[in-house]
Formats: sequence, C-alpha cells, structure tokens
Amino acid sequence: MKKVSKAIINFDDYVERKNTDSRKWSMAGMHEMATYVDDNSIPLWVADMDYKVPTIIIEKLKKRVEHGVFGYSIPSEEYYNSIKYWNKIRNNWEIEKEWIVSTPGVVVGLNFAIKAFTAIGDGIIIQNPVYPPFKSSILNNNRVIVDNSLIDKNGLYFIDFEDLEKKASNPKNKLMIICNPHNPIGKVWTKEDLEKIGEICFRNNVILISDEIHSDLILFGNKFTTIGILNENIINNSIICTSPSKTFNIAGIPVSNIIISNEKLRMEYLNEIIKSGLKPIPSLFGAIAVESCYTLDGLEWLEEVKRNLENNYIYLKDYLKENIPKITCGHLEGTYLAWLDFKKLGYSNQVLNEKLEKEAKLVIDPGEIFGEMGTGFIRLNFACHKKILIETLERLKIVFGK
Ligand SMILES: Cc1ncc(COP(=O)(O)O)c(C=O)c1O
Repeated sequence: MKKVSKAIINFDDYVERKNTDSRKWSMAGMHEMATYVDDNSIPLWVADMDYKVPTIIIEKLKKRVEHGVFGYSIPSEEYYNSIKYWNKIRNNWEIEKEWIVSTPGVVVGLNFAIKAFTAIGDGIIIQNPVYPPFKSSILNNNRVIVDNSLIDKNGLYFIDFEDLEKKASNPKNKLMIICNPHNPIGKVWTKEDLEKIGEICFRNNVILISDEIHSDLILFGNKFTTIGILNENIINNSIICTSPSKTFNIAGIPVSNIIISNEKLRMEYLNEIIKSGLKPIPSLFGAIAVESCYTLDGLEWLEEVKRNLENNYIYLKDYLKENIPKITCGHLEGTYLAWLDFKKLGYSNQVLNEKLEKEAKLVIDPGEIFGEMGTGFIRLNFACHKKILIETLERLKIVFGK
C-alpha cells in the first residue's frame, strides 16, 4: 500500500463541532426521553468521535473535490485492494474482491439481510442489551425479536448458550444478529464464544449476521476475532458487516462493506439490494474515504486514537472510583462507549434521566433504550476532548457525588 502522507492527530487541539450540522452536537433525533437539552448540554450520546480524520483522508477528498466533476462513479481497484489489505493486516483474514458488497451504512446492510433471508413473521435472534437499531430493523420489517439475553454476572457479561441452542433450534427462527465487539457493553467476544455461536447457527440453519463495525477499536491488548477466520461451515453461513465509519469517524460519508463469501447467499443479498433500486457500490466520496483510511497512515492514526481512548477511559474509571464510587464503570475491552451502572444510587429511570439532563446537563444514552437489562445504566461516549471529559465528570460529581 502506497504511503501518501503522514497521519497526524493532536489531541490537545479542540475541534469545535457546534454549528457544523453534527447530529451529535445539534442533539437532533434523540431518544424520546430527551427533554431538557439546551446550549449548555454536553453531547456524549451518539457513537461518533470528536476527532479529526487522518490528514490523508482530507487530502484525498480535497484533491477529488478540486477536479470539480462529480458524475456517476464506479469504485476503483484501489478501493477493493484497500479493503483486502486492511482485513489481511488487521485480522489475518483473506477476502476476495467478489465477496465485497457495498451498502450506504451497516444498518442499511442489516435491513437488506433481514429482507433477503427471512419472511414476515420469522424470528430473528439478538442479544440484549444491544444497539437499538437491531430491534427496530426487525420490527420495521414485521419480523419477530427473539431475545437471547446476555447474562450479567457483576458487570461481566456472558452468553447463555443453552438458551441460544433452544432458540436456534426453533424452525421459525431464521437469522441471528451478533455485535462484535458488543455495543453497549464493550465486550470483545472470544474465538471460543464465536465458534460456539457459529456452530449453533450452522447446525440449526440459522444464518449468522456479524456486525463488526467497532472491530478496529479494541483496547487494552484485547484480541478481536472476525467470524471470517472461523471454520468453513461457519463462514459459509455468515454475513459479515464491516465499515471504516467508527474507526475513522466518517459516519457522515455513509459507506460499509458487507462481506459474503458464500455465493448463493451473496446473490440473494445482492438481489434484495437491486430490487430496492440501489446499486451495491459505494458513492464517489465513500470509495475515496475507504481507500484513504485503509492504508498504513490509517493504521498509524488508529494506534494514536486507541491510545487516547485508553487514556480517557482510565481517567473516567479512576475519577468515578475516587469521587463517585456508587457509579460503577463496566469492564470495557473495546469501543469508546462506557457502560455505567447507576443502580446503587437507587433512582428510577425517569429520575436518573432527569438528573443527568436537567441538573448535570449531560446528554447520554439511557440504558433502557438498549433493552430491559439496561435499566439503571447509561452509555457514555468518551471519544471527546479531555477538557470535555473533565467537565463531564465534574458535573457528575456535583449531581451524584454527595
Ligand atoms: C453496532 C453498530 N452497528 C451499526 C452502527 C451504525 O452503522 P451505520 O451508520 O453504518 O449504519 C452503529 C453505530 O453506532 C453501531 O454501534
């Protein structure tokens, strides 16, 4: 891969995001409990980072903008090669160009999978607490949520395999969607966990969708395993959703790469996309973003971002322990989303949300939007400037530290 420019990021620089049409900073389209948001509120909700992308992305996009003609485009060979390069170097996963199907975002990709591989009324297995669009995608398509809830043992989460086996063996249940690493609990599933899930799905003819959008953001030396390197039976039964959008903070340029090695499944999936009128290729700027992210510069930038995220998380965890020990910080292995347990404070969901929003002026994601198991928790996005994190913690201390 050609080295084009140095990837530089200075975490001391504050990037102003107010009035930049940022969804996070405009606090637009929030959960229904959001009532007391104003100009003094700090946004710590939706999963995007407050950091600038690697310089190389800005340079490549700028160069293309300067050409000035933006007619219909097709992805270049470099686009496909960059995806192959990234997956090989990051995950030791060899993929073929033909396996790559582009959709404008992972959630769009999940919806196509639901339509392609299930019928109205079919059951789809998910693992609560989980990223809310898993649920809404199932419900919006008139399919049925089948919950294989995770087991919470004092803040450490485990999979209930006995329950999964039971649910997978019901012929009404056709699909399972997993999240690896798991949003909102920040768990990176082990190879053994994934093999067990994959085997259960394969044996029971349940197609496995693995949402690996957070897979580059693995922290504290934890090890990510993609479904793509497991055994042939599992791989042939799986749809793997990848994207540079969380890794490089480019969610505003929607692009995701859905990897399907099984030709039959891929054709069914492509057919669903084509039926919708969409082309399974990236937009002009989506392709350029992918090509410039998945490079050596991108790797270097990612290492810096991860170091910064680790520092922020340690700061957050230590601060809470010292100043507000009743708020427990979950065991985070990946993502920049802290799962904080407020149950010891004894507030109802409504009172907790009001205290956070009205008194602390913090805009977070309430735990209950991730499922019933999220009651008493909040999800806090700590991919922000250190001064924002410090201000956040000081506000938490004033409201909850008595
Ligand atoms: C697990 C997970 N999947 C998908 C998405 C959204 O992906 P996209 O914006 O590509 O639809 C998110 C965003 O937070 C996420 O956390």
